[in-house]
Amino acid sequence: MMFANKIVWITGASSGIGEALVKTFAKENAKIILSARKTAELERVQKENKLTDENSMILPFDLENTSNANELAEQIIKKFGGIDILINNGGFSQRSEASETELATSRNLMEVNFFAPVALTKAVLPYMLKQQSGQVVVMSSIAGKFGFYLRSSYSAAKHALHGYFESFRLETEKKGIKTLIVCPGKIKTEISLNAVGPKGKAHNKMDESHVNAMSADDCAAEIMQALTQNKEEVLIGGKEIKAVWLKNHFPKRFGKVIRKQKPE
Ligand SMILES: NC(=O)c1ccc[n+]([C@@H]2O[C@H](COP(=O)([O-])OP(=O)(O)OC[C@H]3O[C@@H](n4cnc5c(N)ncnc54)[C@H](OP(=O)(O)O)[C@@H]3O)[C@@H](O)[C@H]2O)c1
Repeated sequence: MMFANKIVWITGASSGIGEALVKTFAKENAKIILSARKTAELERVQKENKLTDENSMILPFDLENTSNANELAEQIIKKFGGIDILINNGGFSQRSEASETELATSRNLMEVNFFAPVALTKAVLPYMLKQQSGQVVVMSSIAGKFGFYLRSSYSAAKHALHGYFESFRLETEKKGIKTLIVCPGKIKTEISLNAVGPKGKAHNKMDESHVNAMSADDCAAEIMQALTQNKEEVLIGGKEIKAVWLKNHFPKRFGKVIRKQKPE
């Protein structure tokens, strides 16, 4: 019970990996703040995990607009007195070629997947610095390690997380703050259904490669392990994550392999 009574803020808690993380932290008796847009789904997750209003809090908001991030953090402090772990998990993907994707869609992908984690992290940081401890988790992707068909802006946002949070880690680790960057490969969630097309409308199709992918529960278990081991970065998924190793060691071979993949 390493996380008993730890105060954990999870974005994207209404579905997929975020929901699985709520389940895992609930079993650890953590105090959990559940955030996403769909309040009814957050309440479902709260109820299914037998969380109460004493040990959890529903804090709905849209990651598109984090101008009130400081107020959100204040609400958590008011209720629980601190924030030990922030999990920047909420986000969405893309299924459209760069040439057809409207600039507004690209900006939105950057806003939710990159600027929102930055804003929330900046909002909790003063409290973590005061406590001289805290863990920031950032949900990147293998798309944060290399570009892929139909993912130009999503991949750009995930790459940006690495640049920002690797710098952030260097600047804050001596002050007690740990930063974990998680790079999932294919995880069986609604990510491809919720991905957006060129004009920002939902793609609404399940990728074939996601049907038999790793479960969100297994992904959450690996994230917990990485947290307990104080890892800086972790790759999670099936054989697709080997592509990162291939790119690092054999970039030419990687170039050939990646071009042969199905664009979905
Ligand atoms: N599944 C994969 O294969 C995979 C691979 C690599 C990385 N990831 C990353 O893992 C994270 C979780 O994705 P998932 O696979 O669990 O997908 P998911 O099932 O679609 O869940 C996405 C979560 O993010 C929330 N969200 C999306 N847009 C939001 C917004 N504008 N404001 C607030 N919340 C928002 C959704 O809640 P509401 O709709 O209720 O707002 C939902 O809870 C994402 O950052 C994704 O990029 C996933």
